[in-house]
Amino acid sequence: MGEPIIELIGLSKTFHVGFRRKRVDAVRELSLRVEPGEIFGLIGPNGAGKTTTIKMLTGLIRPSSGTMRLLGHDGFDRQCSRKLGYLPEISYYYESLTASEILDFYAKLYGIRENRDKIVSQWIERVGLGHARHKRLGQFSKGMLQRIGLAQALIGDPELVILDEPQSGLDPLGRRDVADLIRECQKSGKTIFFSSHILPDVERLCDRVGVIRQGRMEVVGTLRELLAGDRHVEIMVRGEQAGAFGQALSSHKGVTVSVRGDGVAVSLAPGAAQDVNQVLQEAIGRGLHVEHVMERGSDLESLFVKDKKEPASPQDGN
Ligand SMILES: Nc1ncnc2c1ncn2[C@@H]1O[C@H](COP(=O)(O)OP(=O)(O)OP(=O)(O)O)[C@@H](O)[C@H]1O
Ligand SMILES: [Mg+2]
Repeated sequence: MGEPIIELIGLSKTFHVGFRRKRVDAVRELSLRVEPGEIFGLIGPNGAGKTTTIKMLTGLIRPSSGTMRLLGHDGFDRQCSRKLGYLPEISYYYESLTASEILDFYAKLYGIRENRDKIVSQWIERVGLGHARHKRLGQFSKGMLQRIGLAQALIGDPELVILDEPQSGLDPLGRRDVADLIRECQKSGKTIFFSSHILPDVERLCDRVGVIRQGRMEVVGTLRELLAGDRHVEIMVRGEQAGAFGQALSSHKGVTVSVRGDGVAVSLAPGAAQDVNQVLQEAIGRGLHVEHVMERGSDLESLFVKDKKEPASPQDGN
């Protein structure tokens, strides 16, 4: 494996707020490697430390401790900014500028001289703002501003793209456009690091995901790795004997039964004492109607909300 694009070792950020300088550990001992060409998604609830991590990566704030290597440099080097495209969580733009003018401004900042008008125009089209190129930003909707922000982050053809909630404020079509844009970036060899709350989008896009909570990176891995332990099969049956059927099964290890209307849902954890065939045979033998058999819990959402669940009931723990 070559040199990673991002390497964080024990990175921490502590803020001291208010008159009493109350300590807030926004990011704690975060270690992470992001390899060239990856799409990495950072997910976590509000206040988890996503934006703080991104601000350290983009050189906006200095870590309190730990080390960071970015784009082959130790710490945040000035040379990094040329190779970095960044979409902040909240962007502030001059409201009196038009879409073309603001992108022209950023293109100049990135040192684009040749074909600047053409490049600006292409990016405006690419983010779906062709109709609004001469409109002032003060008249833009939230989603339109987000699109301008993305164009601004990408216009300099950066090696590493860091996006703080790129899909926020966008309608479903807009979110799909952003997903397409991120995939295109990857195809053209860029590395993408982004934070998000929109779990299905993270699921569809990312090669690897990190879950951050209260400043700590809880898990990092490919979706397959992270979700492997979470998969279970649900068998939903209905019929007169459904209750008795559920009761008989509920004593088996790894089997959870819940009543749903006039039926029961039987959930089999990996390695459960009963397998799908046994449960189906039993159900059919009792004359029950099998409504569905499906894999469940194998999504990011279940991982995301995992710690928020009530402690497992004795039945769950069997
Ligand atoms: N400049 C600051 N001064 C003091 N505390 C801060 C500062 N910036 C962030 N924090 C605190 O650090 C913690 C992490 O905040 P951060 O903005 O990184 O979370 P986040 O994961 O991006 O949340 P969200 O999903 O709401 O954007 C929060 O408790 C926040 O109040
Ligand atoms: Mg944030």
